[in-house]
Order: sequence, then C-alpha cells, then structure tokens
Amino acid sequence: MKTVLITGATSGIGEACARQCLAQGDRVVAICRNLDKARDKFGAEIEAGRVVPLHYDLSCNDQLYKFCMDELKPYSIDRFIHSAGISLRQKVTSTGHDVMLKMFETHVFALTEIVRALLRLRKPEQELSMVALSSISAPGLYCITGAYSMAKASIDYYVRLVNKQLNTPSRKYLPLSEGQLTAVEALEGEEQKEQARAKAQAQAGLMVRINTLAPNLIDTPMADYSFMQSQGLSAPLIPMTVVVQEIFKLLENKYVSGKSVILDNGVIA
Ligand SMILES: NC(=O)c1ccc[n+]([C@@H]2O[C@H](COP(=O)([O-])OP(=O)(O)OC[C@H]3O[C@@H](n4cnc5c(N)ncnc54)[C@H](OP(=O)(O)O)[C@@H]3O)[C@@H](O)[C@H]2O)c1
Repeated sequence: MKTVLITGATSGIGEACARQCLAQGDRVVAICRNLDKARDKFGAEIEAGRVVPLHYDLSCNDQLYKFCMDELKPYSIDRFIHSAGISLRQKVTSTGHDVMLKMFETHVFALTEIVRALLRLRKPEQELSMVALSSISAPGLYCITGAYSMAKASIDYYVRLVNKQLNTPSRKYLPLSEGQLTAVEALEGEEQKEQARAKAQAQAGLMVRINTLAPNLIDTPMADYSFMQSQGLSAPLIPMTVVVQEIFKLLENKYVSGKSVILDNGVIA
C-alpha cells in the first residue's frame, strides 16, 4: 500500500486520482481548503482512515512548509499529485498584483513548499515520485489565460530544476529487489558478482522523480465545458480516465524525471 498526497482531491482531476488510489488499495492524504466538502465526498473512506483530510488554503503559503513538516510527518508519503488550481481568463497586461500572486501561490508556491517538505521528510531509501498538473496553455503561449499560463510555465521549469539538482550528474538509484540480489549472489566469482550488481543497479531507475503532465481541456468544474457549449464554442476534450491513467503511468515510470509530458489532443502545432 502506498500513501499518496493529493492537493485538489475534492474536485475534478484530483478527486478522480484520489478515487483511483482508493480503488488500487492506496491511502490518500488530501490537503484541502474545505473540510466539509472532503467529508461529503469521502465520508466513509475518512471514517475508515483511507482518506486523511488536512486543512490548508493554498492561496497563501507562508506557513505551508511548517504545516507539511508537522502534519505529514506521521505519514510516509510515497507519491504526490499537485492538482489544486484556479483558472483565469485575463491577459497579463490587465492582471494586477493580487490576482497574479494568488495564481502563483496556488499553482507554484504550493508546489515548491510541499516538495521542499517532502524531500526533507523522505527517508534515505524511500522512493518518492511527484506529478504536478500543468497545462498546454504554457507551451502553447496562450494570451487569453495570461497569468495562469505563466504559473504553469513556472512549474514546468521548476521540475526541470529540481530534477537537475537531484539527478544530474549523480543520481540515487532505487535499491535492488530481493530477486535481483539473489540472482547476483548465485553467480560464481566476486568479479562477476560485482559487475552484475553494478549493471542491475544502473538499470534500477530513479529513487526521486518529479514531472508535470500538461493536458488539453478536460471536462471538470474548472473547464466548464457546458458553458462553452452554450456559447457555441467547441474544443477537443481529453477523457478523465485517460488523464488519470497518464498521471499514474508517469508516477510509476522510474526512468522519467524533470519532464513536462504533453497530452494535447494534437492541438499544439
Ligand atoms: N480541466 C482542465 O481542462 C485542465 C486542463 C489542464 C490542466 N488542468 C489543471 O489540472 C488541475 C486540476 O484542475 P481541475 O480541472 O480538476 O479543476 P477543479 O475541478 O476546479 O479542481 C481544482 C481543485 O483545486 C482546489 N483548490 C483551488 N484553490 C485552492 C486553494 N486555495 N487551496 C486548496 N485547494 C484549492 C479546489 O478545491 P475545492 O474543491 O475546495 O474547490 C479543487 O479541489 C489544475 O491545476 C488545473 O490547472 C486542468
């Protein structure tokens, strides 16, 4: 059983990821701004201790690092999905400081503070994989979503930096499995064993990984597709099942880190 930390678990993509975790027998620790909503959505699972809701509003994060260090300590977090977010349809030249700050707090600083704490709390031999939701509006340079696109571009750059710091030039590999160790020990001769051990180690995959997934439009409260339809607008949608599948594939891929994986429905030229 893994313990998965999720922000935005009370709606849309985050909620779908939380339900996927529960379906596969994992435990969810959810940082949410509305505990009543969390209880409405996950009452039975909270009772059973399979969902642990922690209250924090991610639009102001000056206490978030300390909050995480205190509140996440009892749980050994193996996976992290940062799905909390707010949208904006406003050009950057019309966006004032308060709105810009809220956008960066929710998308960027929430991520940087939580990652900082998780890296600190991680035990030396513990695998940690993290995925944050980005958007194709970042690589697509969408003017209409202005500060939102800027914030998403920032998290794409941030994961590259964190990966570079953690995984290049030296990297921490996952420990060898029991099976691999037994196979190595079964070999004859110390030199052969040493070579086989080194090769297995180099193929083991990365211990700490961080990526973003940048999807096109998904039908959630944020996207409000019904409203778009009522305005005569149409756009290709990515099914929620596909997005969730891609998030979990990315979380479990031991060989990818520091990347922004684009799921664009062929939209970006
Ligand atoms: N939907 C799309 O088309 C799309 C496309 C590309 C990327 N994304 C990204 O995917 C992520 C999830 O979006 P979604 O479509 O699932 O949106 P959503 O249904 O609106 O969910 C957003 C979640 O973020 C939480 N949240 C917002 N502000 C918060 C704050 N200050 N503190 C704590 N939690 C906060 C919300 O909490 P409440 O439940 O309390 O409201 C909600 O659970 C976002 O980062 C979004 O930018 C979405």
